[in-house]
Amino acid sequence: MDTIKEAPCWLTFLPGELPQTSAPEETARWELAHAGARCPLRVDEAMGDAFEIGEDGAITGGRTGVLYGAYRLLMARAAKEPLPRGVQRPRYALRMLNCWDNAEGDIERGYSGRSLFFEGGRFAYDPARMRTLGRMLASVGVNVLCVNNVNVLGPAWRLIEDGLPELARLADIFRAFGVRLMVSIDFAQPLRHGIPTADPLDERVQRWWAEQTDKVYAAIPDLAGYLVKADSEHRPGPFAYGRDHADGANMLARALAPHGGALVWRCFVYNCQQDWRDRKTDRPMAAYTHYAPLDGRFDENVILQVKHGPFDFQVREPVSPLLLAMKQTRMAVEFQLAQEYTGHQIDLYAMPPMWREVFDDMGAERVQAIAAVGNLGRDENYTGHPFAAANLFSYGLFAWDPDAEPRALLSLWGRLTYPNFSEREQRSLCDMLMESRAIYEQYTAPLGLCWMVCRDGHYGPGPDDYEYAAWGTYHRADRDGVGIDRTASGTGYLMQYPDWLRERYEDAARCPDALKLFFHRMRYDDVLSDGRTLIQRIYDDHFEGVERAEAMAKTLRALPLPSPDREVALERMERQLANAREWRDQVNAFFHRYSGAPDAHGRPLY
Ligand code: GCU
Repeated sequence: MDTIKEAPCWLTFLPGELPQTSAPEETARWELAHAGARCPLRVDEAMGDAFEIGEDGAITGGRTGVLYGAYRLLMARAAKEPLPRGVQRPRYALRMLNCWDNAEGDIERGYSGRSLFFEGGRFAYDPARMRTLGRMLASVGVNVLCVNNVNVLGPAWRLIEDGLPELARLADIFRAFGVRLMVSIDFAQPLRHGIPTADPLDERVQRWWAEQTDKVYAAIPDLAGYLVKADSEHRPGPFAYGRDHADGANMLARALAPHGGALVWRCFVYNCQQDWRDRKTDRPMAAYTHYAPLDGRFDENVILQVKHGPFDFQVREPVSPLLLAMKQTRMAVEFQLAQEYTGHQIDLYAMPPMWREVFDDMGAERVQAIAAVGNLGRDENYTGHPFAAANLFSYGLFAWDPDAEPRALLSLWGRLTYPNFSEREQRSLCDMLMESRAIYEQYTAPLGLCWMVCRDGHYGPGPDDYEYAAWGTYHRADRDGVGIDRTASGTGYLMQYPDWLRERYEDAARCPDALKLFFHRMRYDDVLSDGRTLIQRIYDDHFEGVERAEAMAKTLRALPLPSPDREVALERMERQLANAREWRDQVNAFFHRYSGAPDAHGRPLY
């Protein structure tokens, strides 16, 4: 019998033993019985993922529904929370986790060790850890797991060919937890099979995909579908053949349709070979420009997956205008749990407050599915920093119910993960997580500016690293000011928004400070809404960000974290503090050298 050997993260409410079941409703029975909960289960297949917990504790639901109901009941008990009443139904049918794992075992933007799934070009996993992961995902309602990187590198392209038996074995493990697998595919795959083209309108290409997809579904009948990154950062795609992305996506969608599979097509398309001297091309405009005109042309089983902001998971971005533009297309919003630009799971950065903002601006009804890039790896605690698990946990519950309040999610995670904490300690943990993003933002890139990060690895400051690069990522700081005018008189990006959002940002004086430099170019002596000059605000934020990080470290040291979480969290906090000071001093020095402005409080500027 497999047992959990490692730290169980938020799964403290379940026994150490792991279920050896093969279907979700069996897993539900097993978990309830082993947790000593005598709750009758009634499976009503028509309910699908939905469940209802009756007054008597009986759980009624679909085959996956009863499993979600069982976990919710056990979690509520452990956290001493009231049980959810009435029928609980997820907002989205597809609640996806995209792992960027490469077949060689490394992970693109992975900060928790090597891959949980692959090593040396093949599957290599610990079945007990897979079950634990299945439990983690099911306990918060995540139901689709894409195991390989969207950049399909090296042997990963064989996953849908001779890798199928292994993929099917993995699918069996996750099926017991109601989690369906998905694979990232390479658009140019037919070229490896003697077909001289990958043109989506070529019959040979269409036939190859249809036949190969039949083989895939013969091995894994419930595969959730394919995930595709095409014509993006040097990945192959339909542009090479003069076709557009509706042609490309629909071709694959038609191969999947007979099997009920979804074709998830990422919209991260922009010119990554821009000349920095070119002031007309504005990268945030790219996704909307490419896709908005295609609205209405995608097949029913195509889902366009759009990053939540128009750039690339920067510390703060406005909502992507593409998410508000396509009314006749199924869309998914994409978040990134992996802390690529947000501290590498060394610095604390709890994401629910950011998701809340995105959803408040976008409206949950604008998307039909939700995805997040994973933050998992082979580290003992799965997420590198034990607190980074709060992002995975909250993501699942948020994908189920995007009306969820960030504090409620983080506080539930805290109570399940550290049941030994007093109420006061729980509160200080939750407060710390709730303000972690604002703190990170203060000591890194100011006021929505973006791209001041170190180019090599994306951790730590590099204020000019992206300024003369080909990635379309410029802040254009000079001796007078900083930022890009993205209004109608500038690049025109703002015109991609519906009126109500355009109006919020259009007038530099009224644009919220948090995004001021995203939308406007400002002089260092321009005055912000709180009466401070821009340059003084930049200095103040950076000094204050470090002070608040130091206060956070103090709070952390006082918490009775169990081992090994304590050692890991304290060691990472020291690195966060060093990082924060480096950001503060480099960014302040950068702007001081350009502006020549002293700090009003006489603090050191180097
Ligand atoms: C970012 C990231 C890449 C990743 C890409 C994507 O640019 O740095 O590593 O491949 O996003 O989302 O596809």
